[in-house]
Amino acid sequence: MAGDERDPTRTYAGDAIEVHWEPRLCIHTRNCVRGLPQVFDPDARPWVAAEAADADAIARAIETCPTGALHYRRLDGGTQETPPEQITIEPRPNGPLFVRGRVQIVDNDGHVIREDTRLALCRCGASQNKPFCDGSHRRIGFQTPATTSARAGAS
Ligand code: SF4
Ligand code: FES
Repeated sequence: MAGDERDPTRTYAGDAIEVHWEPRLCIHTRNCVRGLPQVFDPDARPWVAAEAADADAIARAIETCPTGALHYRRLDGGTQETPPEQITIEPRPNGPLFVRGRVQIVDNDGHVIREDTRLALCRCGASQNKPFCDGSHRRIGFQTPATTSARAGAS
């Protein structure tokens, strides 16, 4: 799954569905590979085979991508991705914040730098692609504090 900074989005088109992949957002969680290995194969070139499963299955697998590196566009009249109404933020153990819902990320001037339905935000401080996680938490051995749930209700 090699990336290319000069070409931030790759497109893999089949007849029924088009798969979009942004290498700079992929942190190699391999949800896609585990979910549909006949379509997402990091050892194959191209690594996405958009004809190797039906479009519904590919869409479902893509929606498990926690970072928004993968998206799709249905070409067969199938339902496009529908984000959940409620935004959720899930702190991952020793890792990023997974965000789901219709979210806008803005810079200090209020300019929208990303709109997405799935995002992984860095909380270790080491990402070279902030505010997005780039997988550096593994390299630095980032560890989140022990759970605070035991103290809930103490204040
Ligand atoms: S699920 Fe998303 S972040 Fe994980 S390996 Fe696939 S494309 Fe990369
Ligand atoms: S949490 Fe992944 S790079 Fe910081």
